[in-house]
Parts: sequence; structure tokens; C-alpha cells
Amino acid sequence: QDKDEGQRLIDIVNKLQDAFTKVGMANLDLPQIAVVGCQSSGKSSVLESVVGRDFLPRGTGIVTRRPLVLQLIRDTSLQAEYGVFLHRPNDKIYDFNEIRDEIIRDTERITGRNKGLSPLPINLKLFSPNVVNLTLIDLPGVTKIAVGDQPEDIEKQINDMVLNYIKRPNCIILAVTPANTDLANSDSLKLAKTVDPKRERTIAVLTKLDLMDEGTDASEILEGRVIDMKFIGVVNRSQKDIEEHKNIDSAISAEDEFFQSHPKYHYMADYMGTRYLAKILNNKLIQHIQKCLPAIWKNVDKEKEKVQEELEKLGVDDQDLHRKQIAFSALSKFAEDFNNYIDGSSEFDTIKN
Ligand code: GDP
Ligand code: NA
Ligand code: MG
Repeated sequence: QDKDEGQRLIDIVNKLQDAFTKVGMANLDLPQIAVVGCQSSGKSSVLESVVGRDFLPRGTGIVTRRPLVLQLIRDTSLQAEYGVFLHRPNDKIYDFNEIRDEIIRDTERITGRNKGLSPLPINLKLFSPNVVNLTLIDLPGVTKIAVGDQPEDIEKQINDMVLNYIKRPNCIILAVTPANTDLANSDSLKLAKTVDPKRERTIAVLTKLDLMDEGTDASEILEGRVIDMKFIGVVNRSQKDIEEHKNIDSAISAEDEFFQSHPKYHYMADYMGTRYLAKILNNKLIQHIQKCLPAIWKNVDKEKEKVQEELEKLGVDDQDLHRKQIAFSALSKFAEDFNNYIDGSSEFDTIKN
């Protein structure tokens, strides 16, 4: 099987989390991913394509007016995906268009219709057999000038709202800048730098490469020769694409085609696009997990000993405990494999089957 590296890593994380669920241990505390950028830079679009689902309100002007905290929850027993809002805890919503409508409705309920904003988050859980347990945060755009019902100190209010999420050491920052504006004004990168000066958890994303003036290109920016940081260029769906309901898969194929066929980008096409962004995010996740692992394994050992002691006390008739013991053994084997995999000293056997 020729799975790409990104997918292999996702598999590792999933197996690990499934194993934890089996033994009833608290699950791995994975990082949150937040998108930061100016208004209409393409934040919601980037987040959507990373998740691979259509459900976020996108469009010209200020569409995202409250933080959306989206918790992806993996449940392999499910036949169909659904969303549940914290403010509607009893409704499983299977239709993603309905999810989008509800985000808009609840935004307006709190902020009114005239471009008002609120730091009160909308909490949405997405249950699916095909996701990794991650939390993604869509944020209103960084803005300078108040419009509509917005207060005079709008810039400060939004910055505070954004900082509240990205200051957490556990947060990966997707700093989004559109290629058709002046990079010197990239407020997202400036803001990210205040909380992550060494840029250890910031990923710079350049959107709207398809909208640059004819005869100009972003290759110098992408290569890190303008700001001392490499960017991942992406091409999201345009407003017209959204209106024509172009789906994510064809959008990603079109994006591939854009980079492959572009005279200035084709030689760097492997390091561009939504797919590559997803891969980089996966790598960040793995780095994070690696950091957490020693403490986790210690816990696993402790729990395993507890189960063994109990088993000895009760004898081997206790089916539940016996199952747990087997699950723990699998987890230990997994730990060993994971470490070897990270060392590069072996293939990762556990995830092959
Ligand atoms: P946000 O306000 O930062 O969340 O931005 P949205 O994701 O809502 O996008 C704003 C508008 O820009 C929408 O009409 C998108 O269709 C459009 N857009 C976003 N990214 C791109 C891109 O890479 N290329 C083109 N052509 N349009 C884009
Ligand atoms: Na917008
Ligand atoms: Mg948005």
C-alpha cells in the first residue's frame, strides 16, 4: 500500500486514540488549530479544506463574527457523520448545509445582523468515523476600521479575542495572508509573532495566489526570501465556485493543476497546496505527541500494573479485566513501535494491518 506519509501519521494517531479509549484512559490532549488573518483572507476556506467538509459560512465581507470552536470527534462505530451544537445539545444534525445555516443563525442571535462581533464562541462537535480528534478554531478577521454596529475599539477587541486562543502553548497557528495584498501589512503574522516569537507553532499560509495581478507572482514570498519564513501557498474556492457549489475534491484537483502548470510554481508544487498543508499539520501533531509520550507511557505502565494486580486478586475469570490487560499489552507494543518509527530505526508494523 502506498499511503502518503500524512495519512500514515493520521493512522498512528487514530490507533493510539482508539487504544486509549479501549483501556478507558483519558485521551491524548492534541493541539488546537486556530486560523488568524485579516477579513476575507480565506481563513474559513482554509479550515474547511483542511477538514475536508463543507459547512462553514464563507464569503465577502465579515462573515465570521464569533469564534467557532469545532471539535472533531472520532467514532468508528458511526455510519454517518453529524454535528451537535452546544446550544442545541439534543439535535444531531446530519445535513452540513443545516449546520452552516445554524452557525449563521446563532451568530446573528448574539451579534445582530449589522456586522457586530462577539467573543462568545459557538461550540460545535462533529462526530465522524473519518476524523482525528482535533479542535479547530475559526476566528473573526483582524480589522482596523469599525463598520456597522462595531465599536470604535474594534481592532483591540478582535486582537484580544484572537490572542485569547493563540496564546495557548498548545495552539497551532495558521496565519493566513492573501497574496493579492501587501505582505508588509500581514497583521496575522505580526499577531502570531507576539505569542510565538520563534515561530515554532506558526504555519504561514498564502491564499488567493490565483488572484494576483498578471505578470506578478509570489515565488519570492513562498520561498521565504521576503519575510524570513516559508509560506505554503493555497488556492481556495472563489466566491463564484462557492455559488456554483464546487465541491472540495474538485477544488483540490484544480488547485493541484494550478501549481503543476504554473511557470513560476511548478518546480515547488510538491510544497504547495491544501494537501501539503494537511501534511505539515500532521507533522506538527506528531511532534506534539512525541513530546507528550514519555508522561503518557508512564501512566500506561501504572494503569497496566493496577489491572494486573486486580486480575491476580480476582483470578482470570473477570472478562473485563482480561480484555483490558490485552489492550494494555497492545498499547505497550504500540509504544515500542512508535518510538522505533520516530527514531527511524524501523518501519511502523502496528499500523500496517
Ligand atoms: P475569511 O473571511 O478569512 O474567513 O475568508 P473566507 O474563507 O470567507 O473567504 C472570503 C472570500 O474569498 C470568499 O468569497 C472566498 O470564496 C474567497 N477566497 C478565499 N480564498 C480564495 C482563493 O485562494 N482564491 C480565490 N479566488 N478566492 C478565495
Ligand atoms: Na469573509
Ligand atoms: Mg471566516
